[in-house]
Amino acid sequence: MTDNQTLTITDNRTQQSYTIPIYRGTVRALDLRQIKTGPDDFGLMTYDPAFMNTASCQSAITYLDGDKGILRYRGYPIEQLAEQCSFLEVAYLLLNGELPTANQLEYWQCKVMRHTMTHENVKKFMDGFHYDAHPMGILISTVAALSTFYPEAKNINDPKSRDKQIVRLIGKIPTLAAYAYRHRLGLPYIAPDPELGYTKNYMNMLWKRTEPKYAANPVLARALEVLFILHADHEQNCSTSTMRAVGSSHADPFVTAAAAIAALSGPLHGGANEEVLRMLGEIGSNDNIPGFIQQVKDGKRKLMGFGHRVYKNYDPRARIIKKVAEEVFEVTGRNPKIDIALALEKIALSDEYFIKRKLYPNVDFYSGIIYQAMGFTPDQFTVLFGIPRTVGWLAQWQEMLQDPDTKIARPRQVYSGEEVRDFVPIAERGVKQLVHA
Ligand code: CMC
Repeated sequence: MTDNQTLTITDNRTQQSYTIPIYRGTVRALDLRQIKTGPDDFGLMTYDPAFMNTASCQSAITYLDGDKGILRYRGYPIEQLAEQCSFLEVAYLLLNGELPTANQLEYWQCKVMRHTMTHENVKKFMDGFHYDAHPMGILISTVAALSTFYPEAKNINDPKSRDKQIVRLIGKIPTLAAYAYRHRLGLPYIAPDPELGYTKNYMNMLWKRTEPKYAANPVLARALEVLFILHADHEQNCSTSTMRAVGSSHADPFVTAAAAIAALSGPLHGGANEEVLRMLGEIGSNDNIPGFIQQVKDGKRKLMGFGHRVYKNYDPRARIIKKVAEEVFEVTGRNPKIDIALALEKIALSDEYFIKRKLYPNVDFYSGIIYQAMGFTPDQFTVLFGIPRTVGWLAQWQEMLQDPDTKIARPRQVYSGEEVRDFVPIAERGVKQLVHA
């Protein structure tokens, strides 16, 4: 390889050549703007729907190599973090760039847990939701509503205020999620118990009944902690890009995070874990797998929990989750859906259709099976993705605001509509058949 990190382009329309710099394997799209056919030409743009080959930012948070199946937070392999860290330790790492020392961690945990309480009015609007409201809808609305309780959150350029809102949101999101869960069941809301720590307190707020102090099963609590670590960040996915795009308008972090949660709720993103469970329920038994696979190959269905925009090798998170599943089943008993999932995976991974398209199980393929075994209903699964991902969203939001390259997100378009034409008065537009929906 030469030291000459440049790209030379010849425009065959004009025979002119341009040399543009290459930086870390990318060229700046704006460097193409100088390529013009004449003074009236706007200049060359790139067309990249869905950002298939466009880096929208520089980030030092998460490293992902989809071909090799590598995922690292701040340089640390996900496998090591999942094995050895607590969720809040990983949260500190993502937000601050370094693992905390023992006293930094203790201070950080205290800070987050102190912010787990919500204003009493939250309970009132929680009560306004219909009994079967989807918890993701509730989460989007209640996280957005936090903006009205903390108007100072709009001071996004004040680092102190930013830190405060970050801790507030990380602290409160499990409380909002737990309230949404109990609202559905008609159970009284449980106040957070900071002594329990982040994950066990969440379990307490979900499942405490009449016992004086909730005692979480340690194996299940650790499983949830590992799942939270695996979901904490995943670089520029749909919801994180939403967080950055909305945040780039300088909206406050609560409404911005609400937009990210909305993006996460879609079945192609975080909503996939819920869909996987429905799919496994529909398949019902191993005998029905070949018929189902055929429907997928015929383009009639999608195999939910399979495929990824970036991973074209095994998703490393899915490998860890498979191990966690076995540990959880030791406590809860085996979820029969795991056997259908394993058989489905085996057949899919040996089938030409999936091999050719590099479709492997992703993080969502197994997570729902574990959540169900732990007692969660499928509509809670995406919430369980959103709680830890809040940390990633906030780390990326903070990084975006501190980046001197940041401007309001505003993509270009390639206009494909009508050329200019003259207005036609309504009386001259003729009669057209009405089309009823
Ligand atoms: N089942 C069947 N075929 C699939 C699937 C699937 N799950 N995923 C992709 N394909 C096919 C797709 O039809 C296309 O085939 P062809 O080349 O013949 O047209 C080919 O594979 C490439 O797919 P693509 O849609 O161009 O890939 P993408 O990068 O745009 O989509 C994806 C990525 C995750 C949206 C997609 O794989 C998918 O819809 N998977 C199912 C939903 C899912 O599990 N989502 C969770 C993703 S991981 C966690 C997260 O991000 O939240």
